[in-house]
Amino acid sequence: MSRIAYLCAFAVLPLVLLSACGIPNGQPQKGSEPVAPNQVLDFGTLYAQNCSACHGAEGRGGASIALGNPVYLEIVSENAVHNVVANGIHGTSMPAFAQSAGGLLTDEQINVITVGMFSRWGRKGILDGANPPSYAAKTTGDVARGEITFGTYCASCHGTEGHGRSKGSAISNDSFLALVSDQGLRTIAITGRPDLGAPDWRGNVPGKPMSEQEITDVVAWLASRRVQSPGQPYPASTFAQHHDTEHHHSEHLEK
Ligand code: HEC
Ligand code: HEC
Repeated sequence: MSRIAYLCAFAVLPLVLLSACGIPNGQPQKGSEPVAPNQVLDFGTLYAQNCSACHGAEGRGGASIALGNPVYLEIVSENAVHNVVANGIHGTSMPAFAQSAGGLLTDEQINVITVGMFSRWGRKGILDGANPPSYAAKTTGDVARGEITFGTYCASCHGTEGHGRSKGSAISNDSFLALVSDQGLRTIAITGRPDLGAPDWRGNVPGKPMSEQEITDVVAWLASRRVQSPGQPYPASTFAQHHDTEHHHSEHLEK
């Protein structure tokens, strides 16, 4: 109970009660009517209620990327953001927010969030003439080339074959890869995670920005490391050695 309400409830003089509360007949105070959730059109409120748990307060990053990263906002289009927020990203924890996709936000609210991200956090000119790789892949990546590219640009922090080192975590780990989309990998490879000290496409090897094709190839290599049953401690082949009689079953697992 708030202090005022407490005082009102126990006030001895009815006069005090009236003047302190001033709301006869239970009428709502001006401006105190609750706004229906689908009427909220304030960017800050919508972002805080729907996005900050994963993308961080003020877009500064959390379990997922910092949406307020101005480099990200120069590379991605408003259309792409709107589409992701409306429909979510299948196979990841990014939810669909559009009512048409089972979410709770109106199209107008999704527009407010999308436009607000760019107007509040975008910084035109931040790339200063740099020519970044495109947001979406233009070609199919080459896995073998991607492995070499990884060695050149990523292994210094993420370890040989992406097994992890002191500076960067194990990103070729099947459990990590099971929860991230190819575009999610591409976005991080291009924009980095400034919130966590991960460089963008220009900073992996200083003075040697990655090309469009190198980004595409490195994502193809990472994606090729996904497995059918992520998180299982033993590969199916090990399983087969110990279960000779169930050979048929383990063959099935390997597919
Ligand atoms: C200068 C060190 C450095 C280099 C080089 C580097 N990264 Fe990172 N990277 C980091 C750090 C630091 C993080 C944040 C902490 C973490 O998750 O490892 C990170 C995070 C990531 C993540 C997100 C991991 C997660 O848990 O969400 C991905 C994906 C990633 N890097 C991909 C790459 C790729 C691909 C390359 C090469 C093109 C690369 N990184 C090069 C330092 C680096
Ligand atoms: C439960 C966690 C969660 C919530 C809540 C959430 N996101 Fe996400 N979001 C993610 C994850 C995880 C990804 C990366 C998915 C992937 O691997 O591509 C993501 C990706 C995105 C992307 C695409 C990034 C790219 O690669 O271009 C956008 C845009 C985005 N989220 C916006 C939002 C907005 C806006 C909200 C609030 C309306 C929101 N998200 C709420 C977890 C969340």
